[in-house]
Amino acid sequence: MAEPAFRTIHQIVRAAKLRLDRTYWDYLVGGTETETTLRRNRLAIDSTALVPSVLNDVSNVDPSGSLLGAPLTIPCLLAPIGSLQVFEAGGGATAARAAAEYGVMSIASSVCTPDVEEIAAASDAPKIYQLYVRGDEKWVDDIIERVVASGYKGFCLTVDTAVVSRRERDIAKAVIPTSQATPGDFSYQAKLNWSDVERIKSKFDIPVILKGINTPADTARALDLGVEVIYVSNHGGRQLDQGRGALDVLPEIVQAVDGRAEIVVDGGFYRGTDIVKAMALGANAVGLGRLEAWAMAAGGQPVLVQCLRILESEIRSAMALCGVRSFAEIDSRFVTHASPVYEPSVTSAFPLLDLDGDVY
Ligand code: LAC
Repeated sequence: MAEPAFRTIHQIVRAAKLRLDRTYWDYLVGGTETETTLRRNRLAIDSTALVPSVLNDVSNVDPSGSLLGAPLTIPCLLAPIGSLQVFEAGGGATAARAAAEYGVMSIASSVCTPDVEEIAAASDAPKIYQLYVRGDEKWVDDIIERVVASGYKGFCLTVDTAVVSRRERDIAKAVIPTSQATPGDFSYQAKLNWSDVERIKSKFDIPVILKGINTPADTARALDLGVEVIYVSNHGGRQLDQGRGALDVLPEIVQAVDGRAEIVVDGGFYRGTDIVKAMALGANAVGLGRLEAWAMAAGGQPVLVQCLRILESEIRSAMALCGVRSFAEIDSRFVTHASPVYEPSVTSAFPLLDLDGDVY
């Protein structure tokens, strides 16, 4: 059967909703407790308005970017997603293939399938491996050795998951997500500290990304240890509740980094304008999490590639209308504060999305 030709991202989200059962839809769209952090991610983006410059020749717009020396067709990464295989059976390998076909980097999650080597073999394109530390130093070192031997471009340590948070959509249904049912000793996630980062940095010759940084002080410590990429994230509102929106945190991290590392941000970025705002505020790349999983659920590799193409077309349009030809030309003068128009929620970026009624 031919894959449906999606023309907008909201059509992809709707198809995902129709294909997923309630358990997996809730696992994907849910956040912690009151889901305030989750909504603030959208609030931060929707409270940032674009400020266009006109009468620039924008007949040629280049939306490309790069991270760790790898070129990106658009400045986006496929974020690590635990249990990606429940949205599409190929899991991390399918995401890696889609990323290679389109031209972005994918970050393989240690709590999705298949394993380190199989995801590495899924494509020749540069990719990153993300780890939850659930074992002792030898356990960690064995995995990093496999990651290095498999040719990954970077090693990402998620540092915002000392404990698994209370996600009430799952808890109320007594659902234990696959990503939490994977083997390993969770006490190591709670014990993880700066000396582990220092040890990994000194022992292995692979760029390190710390995912889940939210303060200038932690940024400074990471820079002191030589961390190459600061990944600003609140885990899509899935870890600490009552936190700030990721885009609101970004400017102070950009200031603290002061050009000494690359910066990734994620948390509620679904639209071309969202990506342009993050770039204006100093990100080098934006992680796509739920968007990746929605597209995977809606139809695997072809739909994920289609989704990235639609996103590119939105980015090109926003850049041209802002009067910039490349991301080198954009900075914080292109954004200002404004009131949000829609009540922020996980799907509020898609006002035409009607999950029950008409299909647009
Ligand atoms: C989650 C973990 C697996 O957010 O990252 O579900």
